Amino acid sequence: MSENWNWAASDGSAPSKIDLRTDIPHPARMYDFYLGGKDNFAADRAAAARVVELLPSAPAGSRANRRFLGRAVRHAAGLGIRQFLDIGTGIPASNNTHEVAQAAAPDSHVVYVDNDPIVLAHARALLTSAPEGRTAYIDADFNDPESIIGAQQTKDLIDFSRPVALLVVALLHFLPDSADPAAVLDRYKEVLAPGSALILTHGTGELMDPEVAAAISSTYTQAGLNIVSRTRAQVQRFFDGFDLVEPGVVPVHEWRPEAEEDFAMTREEIAGYAGVALRRG
Ligand SMILES: C[S@@+](CC[C@H](N)C(=O)[O-])C[C@H]1O[C@@H](n2cnc3c(N)ncnc32)[C@H](O)[C@@H]1O
Repeated sequence: MSENWNWAASDGSAPSKIDLRTDIPHPARMYDFYLGGKDNFAADRAAAARVVELLPSAPAGSRANRRFLGRAVRHAAGLGIRQFLDIGTGIPASNNTHEVAQAAAPDSHVVYVDNDPIVLAHARALLTSAPEGRTAYIDADFNDPESIIGAQQTKDLIDFSRPVALLVVALLHFLPDSADPAAVLDRYKEVLAPGSALILTHGTGELMDPEVAAAISSTYTQAGLNIVSRTRAQVQRFFDGFDLVEPGVVPVHEWRPEAEEDFAMTREEIAGYAGVALRRG
């Protein structure tokens, strides 16, 4: 069974019908479930519940990932960055990139990109910009950089001659090595001006019991989803050519923690690495 939903296009054009395939799990909706959201369906909840059985800290880890996103965006804003390109946006949740960036600097511009129809269906919630700033949403695939870099919304909101924060948070583990995510990422890095930031998290099974990691991986595979665990060294390679800011690539909750929950988490509970790096001047 699948379900058609009405949605209003983010540019205000006439509603269309899109097929959300609610009968199969989607990563954006599983993540929404972990975060306690309501934009998920039985198939998403069943797959996510199997992961939670194996790794009870999965929801806490997702919240830690979300808090990292907030800290990293504030860090970039603190460096004077006012332009954000957030690829793999996800279903709107609390503290979306533009809310964090514009709380620090109301004139911030944020371009969101995702390829999942359910994220598109919720894009309106991402377009609530502060009057001084601007936000836009592009329905596009990370693997097609030209469609994102060259999109009219990007041209309107982002001046690539000035620093940009590029966010690829909890995205690259959905891309197998055969898609060469590092090479695709390089294309984005090429167009970023000196002083730009790369903000990235990536799933890993390296920090947990290997049997649990293997069981989680096969749960995703059985659900028809490919998720690639990468080691810290492999994640670090995504930052090549940029200078990592302290503390480098670390378990997500260890990147400049602020909240009690981050200090309370253990490495075995977290399934991801995080880092922020800057393009040399
Ligand atoms: C786990 S969510 C992360 C959401 C948000 N970045 C965060 O960390 O809170 C991953 C998102 O990446 C999106 N995604 C997966 N593959 C993608 C691709 N090839 N191009 C664009 N978005 C993609 C999914 O649709 C999903 O919304």
